[in-house]
Amino acid sequence: MKLELGVNIDHIATLRQARGGAGPSPLKAAQACVNLGAEYIVIHLRRDRRHIQENDLRLLTKHLRKHVHLEMAATQEMSDLAVKYKPGSVCIVPEYPGELTTSGGLKMDDKHLPLIQKVVKRLKEEGIKVSLFVDPKANDIRAAKRIGADIVELCTKDYSEAKTEKQRQAILEELSVSSILGRELGLEVHSGHGLDYENVEDVANLSGMQCLNIGFSIMSRAVFVGLPQAVLEMRQKIS
Ligand code: PXP
Repeated sequence: MKLELGVNIDHIATLRQARGGAGPSPLKAAQACVNLGAEYIVIHLRRDRRHIQENDLRLLTKHLRKHVHLEMAATQEMSDLAVKYKPGSVCIVPEYPGELTTSGGLKMDDKHLPLIQKVVKRLKEEGIKVSLFVDPKANDIRAAKRIGADIVELCTKDYSEAKTEKQRQAILEELSVSSILGRELGLEVHSGHGLDYENVEDVANLSGMQCLNIGFSIMSRAVFVGLPQAVLEMRQKIS
């Protein structure tokens, strides 16, 4: 089965926000990515609105609904926006003020699960597919299944930041076991965070892996070779 690619376009909006004008346009970037074979357009609508804005969500869902994969915190405000615009899928992520990027998987413990479960239920009732961004741990994947998620996105932050080859292999093994477990439980399995042209292939080759969500490395490469070439090169790496 072909591994799918989700392209995170947050940083197209970061660039636009730097001058406060209309471009570069996240919608045009998204259309280009879809034309080049990206299955998902990933956007993170953050509480601080530092890059993607509500209007981007509106335009993207208007033109590319089934491709839009909205990352959001499990809050009332974000749930209301997801229900209003109905992206094809949502990924619930932890979000902390001031963080540079998402700092890891959701806390899947007794304190945090009831709220996540409530949001999962509401989104699913609206026909939105729900993913949970989790660390590659068996208990967290089982909890995702228990509270009704359709997808688990395994966090590859620790993998991408591993300092030694031994550490990298150990985390890759955790990702491998988690991917297989997710599929055995009937979940779709995605991965993402910090994946780049050098480290992506080992994750792409894991048994059960279905989709990789990648942003920063593709946008960084696009600065030098253009967005279409950067997306094509990543597609080639993972297929
Ligand atoms: N998946 C999730 C859940 C994320 O939060 C992010 C970062 O926004 C990504 C994937 C993409 O990470 P990166 O930009 O490091 O490729």
